[in-house]
Amino acid sequence: ELKIAIIGGGSSYTPEIIEGFIKRRYELPVKEIHLVDVEDGMYKLEIVGALAQRMVEKAGVDIDVILTTDRRSAIKGADFVTTQFRVGGLAARARDEKIPLKYDVLGQETTGPGGFSKAMRTIPVIMDICKDIEELAPNAWLINFTNPAGLITEVVEKHTKVKVIGLCNVPVGMVKMVADMLEVDSEKVSVDFVGLNHLVWGQKLFVDGKDVTKWVLDKLSDGAALSMKNIPDLKWDPVFLESLGMLPCPYHRYFYMTDQMVKDQKKAVEEGRGTRAEQVQQVERELFQIYKNPELQEKPKQLEKRGGAYYSEAAVSLISAIYNDKKQLHVVNIRNNGTLIGLPQDTVIEVTCLIDKTGAHPIQVGTLSPKIYGLIQGVKAYEELAVEAGVKGDYGLALQCLAIHPLVPSATVAKQLLEDILVENREYLPQF
Ligand code: NAD
Ligand code: G6P
Ligand code: MN
Repeated sequence: ELKIAIIGGGSSYTPEIIEGFIKRRYELPVKEIHLVDVEDGMYKLEIVGALAQRMVEKAGVDIDVILTTDRRSAIKGADFVTTQFRVGGLAARARDEKIPLKYDVLGQETTGPGGFSKAMRTIPVIMDICKDIEELAPNAWLINFTNPAGLITEVVEKHTKVKVIGLCNVPVGMVKMVADMLEVDSEKVSVDFVGLNHLVWGQKLFVDGKDVTKWVLDKLSDGAALSMKNIPDLKWDPVFLESLGMLPCPYHRYFYMTDQMVKDQKKAVEEGRGTRAEQVQQVERELFQIYKNPELQEKPKQLEKRGGAYYSEAAVSLISAIYNDKKQLHVVNIRNNGTLIGLPQDTVIEVTCLIDKTGAHPIQVGTLSPKIYGLIQGVKAYEELAVEAGVKGDYGLALQCLAIHPLVPSATVAKQLLEDILVENREYLPQF
């Protein structure tokens, strides 16, 4: 029987993961789910936790859902720990999104300086969580969902003994969207994903063994949707797509259409629509109003307004693949180990892996096209420096890290960004 600890249990996504455990009750004998939050998050945890308890009760499954601020007791003896916490909440995210715009730089939760800022706040907390896991649940798997997911997974991989797999809903989401375009079941679609978190390409796409890459790119050129709720669905240039010859992920717009995306973000702020964090604050208020209804016993439709759709499916199916030794393919964030030539062995990449009881085993991807490897290496170098800067609290490394980010125009701007980020996040950055 399994014990699960979910760190950041007050997240509005919690009904998703609970639904996932309910759906897979016949393959995963979960006995206890501990939803962990901090004092500040208790009011959310109580609302969403009560809904989780009603969901479990309605389904008639024998799972105890425990709400707690005692992280150590939740982690003790856990088989799986999942992380979905947000240090500083959406208010901090809104600042991450706004600071870069002052310098005409992209303001985004995970990509660019906003992602750096979120990482710096998250690193001290993830390190503490890992100390608890090392001590109290050394055999547990950590399924990290906390963003920037690849970078945070790399912190754990490099600086702790915890067994970790990082997870994002983008690859599963892309497969679903491609399946919809082709009007086939998702299981029929296979994609060789490669890259980093939120910087992942589908190199080739197959249905029933037939190469459909060109067909899908043509559809995308014709305006088919391939995006997430949190990313403006700006259309791809057909000539660009054809010459790329691979499927970009929705987040690639931030790199390939930077100017338009920044313009779009500035306009949203000027017109009072606010940054994505500010929009999400509104969605969250609505969601928690709905969650409060004692009649509600299932995940409400309105949760689809968040960008994290299919997250439970990704997380719980991954947990089941490990537990049941399924030897199934999943796209996860994992130690490179020589898979991507040209990147250090101990860095974390996002790639298709075979999942079994012993973890995630990357599928060999061969030599990458120069169309994509430069961008991967550039962003990975930024991530490596961010990991070290955040763990050590090193100003110089932080400056170098921002200065080489492909979306930061100069060292001068990097320094201004860094100063602003350090000042605005002072209470969350004990390491600096
Ligand atoms: P949220 O703001 O609702 O935060 C979730 C909970 O974390 C809150 O209840 C908060 O009180 C709690 N929290 C804050 N600090 C904590 C700490 N030190 N220990 C325990 N709990 C703490 O956030 P959200 O929008 O639900 O997102 C949660 C996280 O999941 C974010 O990091 C987000 O980026 C990430 N996420 C990742 C993906 C992905 O694809 N990997 C998808 C969606 C969300
Ligand atoms: C996508 C990404 C997540 C991200 C989310 C944001 O699903 O994969 O990593 O956290 O979108 O959604 P939100 O609703 O918070 O803007
Ligand atoms: Mn993601």
